Order: sequence, then C-alpha cells, then structure tokens
Amino acid sequence: MGEAACGLERERMKKKAILLAGGAGTRLHPLTKIVCKQLLPVYDKPMICYPLATLMLGGLREILVISTPKDLPMLRDFLGDGSHLGIRLEYAEQAEPKGIAQAFLIGADFIGNDGAALILGDNIFYGKLDFFREALAIERGACIFGYQVRDPERYGVVEFSPEGKVVSLEEKPIRPKSPYAVPGLYVYDEQVVENCRTLRPSARGELEITDLNLLYLRQGSLQVRLLSRGMAWLDTGTQTSLLEAANYIATIEHRQGLKVACLEEVALRMDFIEQHQMQRWIDRLPKSEYRSYLQLVCEEDPGSVHPEP
Ligand code: DAU
Repeated sequence: MGEAACGLERERMKKKAILLAGGAGTRLHPLTKIVCKQLLPVYDKPMICYPLATLMLGGLREILVISTPKDLPMLRDFLGDGSHLGIRLEYAEQAEPKGIAQAFLIGADFIGNDGAALILGDNIFYGKLDFFREALAIERGACIFGYQVRDPERYGVVEFSPEGKVVSLEEKPIRPKSPYAVPGLYVYDEQVVENCRTLRPSARGELEITDLNLLYLRQGSLQVRLLSRGMAWLDTGTQTSLLEAANYIATIEHRQGLKVACLEEVALRMDFIEQHQMQRWIDRLPKSEYRSYLQLVCEEDPGSVHPEP
C-alpha cells in the first residue's frame, strides 16, 4: 500500500475517546461528599488514572473528559491539558447525570466525523489489552465486551446462543440470563452520535448505554467479545470493592516493583513523549515515592525490553 493510501486507511479508522467521570456519586457517601469518586485513591493514585491509562495503551491520544460542573475543575487541575503525557485532553460538563449514552451528544463536536471509544471513569482493567486494540481497529459497527462475574445483576448483561451469537442484552436484569457482565468500555463507529440522537430516555430518565448497544445489535452491527479470565476487570462501586481494587493493585505493584497505570510511564513506553520531556516534568514534581519511580523509569536504558505497562 502506498503512503497516501496508508494515510487514508489511518484516517478512516480514526477514533477519539471519551472518559466519562460524572454521576451523582451517592453510593459511596460520605467518601464522595467533597471529592468525586474518580479522584478517590485506588492504592497510590487517583482512580481516573486507570481508565485513562487504558485509553492511552489503546493508542488513543485525543480524549474528552466529561464530568459534573462541580467536579470538572478538580479533574482539570489534576490532569491538565495532557501535553506532559503527549496527549490532548479536552473537558466538557454534564449538567446532570442523564445517562452514559448522553456522553456522545455532549461530545458530538469533539467526535466530529470520527468513531469513538468510551470508558467509564470508575472501570479498572488490568492485563493484556489486545482485545481493546483489536476492537479499536473495527471500521463498521460497535464492539463491546463480556466478562464473567459472580453478580451479573449489577451490570449490563449479555446472553449468547450456543453458537456464540448475541441473543439478548439487558441492563441490570433481576434474573440475569448469563454470568457475562458488560464492562464500561465501548467502541463505536462514526454513526455513534447519530444513533444516540434517536435514543429516548429510559424509565429512570437516562439515555442508556444498553439501549445504544441494542440499536447496534438490531442493525446487525454489534460485536461482543468475551474477555479471558486472565484479565482483571475490577469494580469500585462499593466501599468493599474499592478496597479490594486497591489491595489488588498494591499486590501487583509490590510483587513486580512496577506501577500499574502510571500515566507518565505509559506515555513514555507508548512513545507519546521522549525521555527529555519526561525529565522536565519530573523536575517539577514534589519529592515522593512516585517521583523516584518516574526517575528510575526515565533513566532506564531505552533499548531495554519492557513488559506491557
Ligand atoms: O461498570 C459497567 C456498567 O456501567 C455496565 O455494565 C452497565 O451496563 C452500565 O449501565 C453501567 O452501570 P452502573 O450501574 O455502573 O452505572 P452508573 O449509573 O453507576 O454509572 C457508571 C459511571 O458513569 C459512574 O461512575 C458515573 C458515571 N456516569 C453515569 C451516568 C448515568 C456519568 O458520568 N454520567 C451519567 O449520566
């Protein structure tokens, strides 16, 4: 393929990303009285680092962060414009939590004629992210995922026929038809905004992400890929699951001596930034264990083999 054709190919498959970090934050009260859920610590860094790292590891560099009018300034303070990570971060308000699919209407201008991935700011993935990179390469339709859990009734649930075809998709069913929950990571083609415009609010007054996925299913253009049990998809929805997620991250980090979802490290390893840019950033950070870690990563021989961040 010639260079021009390659460029076209890339252009055709271009995807933007939305990180949805709003919501009423009532379930974790009083933890979330002052600080939003997505800025609560998951062991050694705020929760939002984990979904942001997932997007970056997928190769996505144009990201819209959506949150409440109250929380958006704090998120912006924390993440900035993304230039230190070699990415572009934009911000938009969701005045009221009117549903996950509303993110695409809020982000319509930002998405333009591109496709888009959406990740929820409280979803933590740990493991090989090939499934996500493969989904991002789709040109038509949508791709969502299924993950076996003990308590599927708390999530969107996908049911398959014996041949592996998607039979049903239900939001928090009282009697789940399968153990497969749909994680908060979704990939759509450039029809996503138009499709969202046709959705109507559900009984609870929200534009449901499950309704958007059902629309793609009816159009015959929804792929659902099962995540292997070797992947960790962690929940942060309750005080207990938040603590469990923190313990999980702490266990992995202590064992390996590597950090999970360290954004600067991800940026360097993805070649979004160069060593000298990272060094300039480190020089501005307060003395801390985190800074010492970044210094080690930055000084590492660039030719050395690294495990996937
Ligand atoms: O975590 C995966 C699950 O996320 C999926 O399996 C479900 O299909 C999906 O509906 C969603 O379920 P939740 O019960 O977690 O939805 P919740 O309303 O709690 O919102 C999830 C996150 O998105 C939460 O951190 C708040 C944020 N959010 C939610 C809504 C409805 C927003 O920022 N704006 C919103 O309008």
